[in-house]
Amino acid sequence: MCGIVGYTGAKEKKEIILDGLKELEYRGYDSAGIAVLSGDDIEYFKAVGKLDNLIKKTENFQSYGPGVAIGHTRWATHGKPTELNAHPHLGKESFVVHNGIIENYKEIKDELEKEGIAFLSQTDTEVIVHLYEFYLSQRLEAFEAFKKTVGRLEGAYAILLISRSAEGKIFFAKNGSPLLIAPDGEDVYFASSDTAVIGRAREAYYLEDGDYGYAQMGDILLYNGESEISPKMKPLPANVDTARKDGYRFFMEKEIYEQSIVTADTMLGRVLDSQINFEEIPQGFFDDVEDIRICACGTSYHAALTASYLFERISKIRCSVEIASEFRYKEPLLQKKTLFISVSQSGETADTLEALKMVKRAGLKSLAICNVDNSSIVRESDVSILTRAGIEKGVASTKAFATQVLTLWMLSLYLAQDRGIDSQILSKEIEAMRHIPVVLRVEESLHQKIHRLSKRYLHGHGFFFIGRDLFYPLALEGALKLKEISYLHAEGYPAGEMKHGPIALADSELFTIALMPSTILSDKIRSNVEELSARDATILAISAEPFDIADDFIAIKHDSHPMTEFFEMMLVTQLLALEISVRLGNDVDMPRNLAKSVTVE
Ligand code: F6R
Repeated sequence: MCGIVGYTGAKEKKEIILDGLKELEYRGYDSAGIAVLSGDDIEYFKAVGKLDNLIKKTENFQSYGPGVAIGHTRWATHGKPTELNAHPHLGKESFVVHNGIIENYKEIKDELEKEGIAFLSQTDTEVIVHLYEFYLSQRLEAFEAFKKTVGRLEGAYAILLISRSAEGKIFFAKNGSPLLIAPDGEDVYFASSDTAVIGRAREAYYLEDGDYGYAQMGDILLYNGESEISPKMKPLPANVDTARKDGYRFFMEKEIYEQSIVTADTMLGRVLDSQINFEEIPQGFFDDVEDIRICACGTSYHAALTASYLFERISKIRCSVEIASEFRYKEPLLQKKTLFISVSQSGETADTLEALKMVKRAGLKSLAICNVDNSSIVRESDVSILTRAGIEKGVASTKAFATQVLTLWMLSLYLAQDRGIDSQILSKEIEAMRHIPVVLRVEESLHQKIHRLSKRYLHGHGFFFIGRDLFYPLALEGALKLKEISYLHAEGYPAGEMKHGPIALADSELFTIALMPSTILSDKIRSNVEELSARDATILAISAEPFDIADDFIAIKHDSHPMTEFFEMMLVTQLLALEISVRLGNDVDMPRNLAKSVTVE
């Protein structure tokens, strides 16, 4: 949710922290702050809104020489996005940044208030710094005070704390929220995600739950429980170029255009001439699997829902899909022969992660479809398949969705192979799959057409995206994309359900985006759209075949297989959302109220 950066060393500290925060800003951006401690000098700055406001505020500040610095970009959970609520939170001589939620903060706050300690903010985080200073006042040594503080905290956290009481040290702790340490000689960097430190260090340690310790002048002292452990370093990616805009107006636009390449990457070494191969999956992994349960949130949930059609139809295995936040609390009946699949771009989504932990406790096998290696979900899962979409910066997910669906489709074929799928059917699937990178090449003429059309869809009282079968989850995803970045009301609906209620909304100001494939239930969807047209709804049809009664029509070309139609229509709906949002003057990459990685429930 929020982004954290820290540094201890002798380099100019403001630049390191702000550069790192810039890379993480997409995770949360309602306020930001930085604190620097160098010798006896303490400086801190906070600003509401995007990071640029903080950058302006710190224009005339620099800090060379040995010292420590921490920074934070926030997405509000407790307390409004104000300067007082922005991190770092301060005590008398210490500062803290935190990502996650301290569940027992009220209890701690009450205790500290009874001791006469005053609080400035409405946040849960502020208790950490006051508790630390309270223990200091009880004559505990600085690290002991930090350790005791962490011991009191319940909930999820990644924490960095600096204090005059511990010159040159950054204290850290992690439980449930991501944090890494990247040392480079006498410099030590901290971040909640590796993009913030790429280029500064070559390797990093991704902290495990329960880790805590401190870093000072290149030394790292790391504990888990009472035992000191040595950090196991992993190489960091070499550059962040792929995460920059490359001349596109928005990251989202760039990421839509990248889909052709990343889907090809995702298939590399996995889609062979006549079979699907996953080196990640150990032999016999599926042997005793009787059914599949998938959990995910948002866009990833839509990818999962798409997969449920594929698993049942192609792999002939029962598959159910659930929204992770619902699944967690429904007291689901779990049996050991169910394979649990989690789908997540970030690998840090709290609800999905908790659902995974829950099924693990119940003894189920787990498999993750994830875009971020070393993420919490990957580390928790028995087996992980990475989606290879590259860093996704646009808050509205596009290329991650494309690679998730593709990976799940591959997996459905892999399972079907295991269960003896007819070789001709398999070959046809593989042929269609190999065609996807071609399908996803954005033609200038298509983008132009969607740009022109978009001006007719800026008003009205709502959008219905409708589809059947595989195209129903795609309708859900098309509607989600549009509402996220245009702030217009949009719903995805199974086309066959419209007459059971929603059709009452139909009039010329109701925009229907009709996903009309030629390969699946084409006559059925035609009738559904005709019913809407008869009630004067405005219809934008996306189809390979012309459809006379549509008010607007976008032709697709690749209609040889349901999945080629699926991916081409996906592209159209993404571009439509993008163009509508641009015309409305919205911030496409950082839509209001949203964050890229949702690490709180
Ligand atoms: C929408 C979007 C979100 C995420 C959801 C799950 O464009 O990106 O709906 O899909 O928050 O996130 P991950 O996939 O990281 O678990």
